[in-house]
Amino acid sequence: MPSTEPTSGHDRNPDAVAIRPEEPDDRQHIRELHALAFGPGEPVPDLVDALRSAHAPLAPRSFVATDGDRVLGHVMLSASRLDAPRRIVDVWVLSPLGVRPEAQRHGIGTRLVAYALEAAAGTDVPLVFLEGSPDYYGSRGFERASALGFRSPSLRIPDAGFQVARLPAYEPWMTGTLVYSDTFWALDCVGLRDPDA
Ligand SMILES: CC(C)(COP(=O)(O)OP(=O)(O)OC[C@H]1O[C@@H](n2cnc3c(N)ncnc32)[C@H](O)[C@@H]1OP(=O)(O)O)[C@@H](O)C(=O)NCCC(=O)NCCS
Repeated sequence: MPSTEPTSGHDRNPDAVAIRPEEPDDRQHIRELHALAFGPGEPVPDLVDALRSAHAPLAPRSFVATDGDRVLGHVMLSASRLDAPRRIVDVWVLSPLGVRPEAQRHGIGTRLVAYALEAAAGTDVPLVFLEGSPDYYGSRGFERASALGFRSPSLRIPDAGFQVARLPAYEPWMTGTLVYSDTFWALDCVGLRDPDA
């Protein structure tokens, strides 16, 4: 399992927050933190539950940041597929990532991303994809996916937001189109919607 050493200078009290795999008792707290982090009406809590129970080629990996009493942050890796020229490749998607509002900007998100990447690197999966701010993820192990030959699963994902981290199992022939697992489509969690369209 990855270390729980802090990875960011943002962390003011590294001993107080530990990162570990989720446990069943965490699940309601995870729902609550994503409802707070993403705001009311967002499907993220339901996305986590659906990804956890979905039939998938790889069991999801789910990690929490906790101060012992509270779950302060959560990150999930789930299986999707890369439609590469040679064959279908199982890949991870990092989503969601959330930190309780009162605990943000203390390095917890940074540590959760680092922990998830270290866990992913310990599998034989070659790539982790995500949608998000390049300002945030670009300094946390991710690169613009299109620049490496990957194609987005939706025109509604801004090119700069479609990002990938290459893991030790990555090989250069692994290009192609990311095909999200059905759960992301079923809950309409792919890309950005235009309310005026
Ligand atoms: C994004 C999020 C997970 C970051 O967690 P965190 O613990 O606050 O992050 P860290 O303390 O490790 O890093 C803080 C830095 O990230 C920046 N940051 C936070 N949210 C950001 C965003 N959406 N876009 C770009 N930068 C962001 C902060 O400005 C801060 O920058 P600084 O280093 O210049 O001060 C957290 O703000 C959150 O839960 N947001 C709501 C849910 C969300 O948007 N999740 C990500 C979806 S891809």
